[in-house]
Amino acid sequence: MEKFVIRGGKPLAGSIRIAGSKNAVLPMLAATLLTRDVCTITNVPDILDVRNFLQILKNLGCEVSIKGGKVQIRAARLVSTRLDSRLGSSMRASVLLLGSLLARSGRVASPYPGGDLIGVRPIDVHVRAFRKLGASVVLRKRGLHIQTSKLRGAELFAESSVTGTENIVLAATTAAGRTVLKLAAQEPHVVELCRFLVAMGASIQGIGTHTLIIRGARRLRGASVRVIPDMLEAGSFAILAAATRSELRLRDVEHSHMDAVYHNLLEMGVPFDRAGSDLILHKPRQLTACTIRTGLYPNLATDLQPPFGVLATQARGTSIIHDWIFEGRLGYLKQLRRMGAKAQILDLHRALIEGPTKLGGATIESLDIRSGMTMVIAGLVATGKTIIVNTHNIDRGYEHLPERLQAIGADIQRIE
Ligand code: EPU
Repeated sequence: MEKFVIRGGKPLAGSIRIAGSKNAVLPMLAATLLTRDVCTITNVPDILDVRNFLQILKNLGCEVSIKGGKVQIRAARLVSTRLDSRLGSSMRASVLLLGSLLARSGRVASPYPGGDLIGVRPIDVHVRAFRKLGASVVLRKRGLHIQTSKLRGAELFAESSVTGTENIVLAATTAAGRTVLKLAAQEPHVVELCRFLVAMGASIQGIGTHTLIIRGARRLRGASVRVIPDMLEAGSFAILAAATRSELRLRDVEHSHMDAVYHNLLEMGVPFDRAGSDLILHKPRQLTACTIRTGLYPNLATDLQPPFGVLATQARGTSIIHDWIFEGRLGYLKQLRRMGAKAQILDLHRALIEGPTKLGGATIESLDIRSGMTMVIAGLVATGKTIIVNTHNIDRGYEHLPERLQAIGADIQRIE
């Protein structure tokens, strides 16, 4: 099993290009099943979740070509409607293939989606919607079977679930008649999926709002799309710069997706400038404690709560964390405590962090994608040697992380 070994405690300098968004590209890959034509997706990040997703598509019969960040997929003839159980259960996003395969082939068999251990992560929103669209859903111990003779538009509630909204949209674009989807999620990756589907010939009104109206199209065609920059990567690297007191330039940032991150950085005393699509982080003089409260977009993404948590260990005063979205996203604080952080977990959703504290190297675990990145930031802040185990989590969502950090002066090695 691979580990990262970090010798931290020194400022970094240079620039990092922000990769394409993981949570935007995965639903787009699922959408390519809705047409027999070629779809071209550029700015695709080279991360484990994308590689595994493409392998699932190949197993289903898709022709896949990958050149740099350009991926072309042609789902002319599918050979299976059953998802590989190991790959399917390795990530949450495999759930998106339920909607697209159901729309394409009228049936799908799948393991329960896996991914980060950040809470219970039920799929009741997805299942209710498929049933209302006219599918039968059988839930077995080892997975689910869904089938339909014909999907028909309906009035549905997505309960602000991100992949729930995406799945319903994928299933409804070719369903007969009109689907009205209320309480839809508004995250930029949901918007980008809808725009891609419109380019493929789908009719979707209300994109970017909480109510989507979808009129079923008879046939979708191939289309091309460039994946938006990953706002979670941009947020993570901005926090990394502030926590290590570095001067860093982030390239290819979509500023309009960053309001909540910028608000929290300013609250904590992190100076920065924008120059075109670059974000320039300056060395903070003093970091100040603040309230880190997560929410639905455009509020602060739950995924950035753990990185902000490590920044709070370097800030003067008591920071309050309130993350109501998942009930397992504070576990990283136990790891940080082993490095010297003063963090009190109040309940499943709330914690207090007192700072500033000096962090010292330790052997710690990457619990999920975002807490893994958080451990890397902590290791770069800490004096001495930090060993991070379970790093495959980090590779699921961050492209070539050690190599990109080495380029800005970090002492981080990947070892077997
Ligand atoms: N929920 C239900 N029932 C459902 C679905 C969700 O009760 O059927 C609840 C969840 O338990 C949670 C809340 O609704 O309390 C929000 O979950 P949501 O469905 O929005 O999350 P998701 O779609 O499973 C996506 C991202 C996550 C990100 C969340 C929240 C992808 C592939 N995953 O997950 O990203 O944290 O939205 O924004 O888009 C990551 O990238 O590291 C990651 C975990």
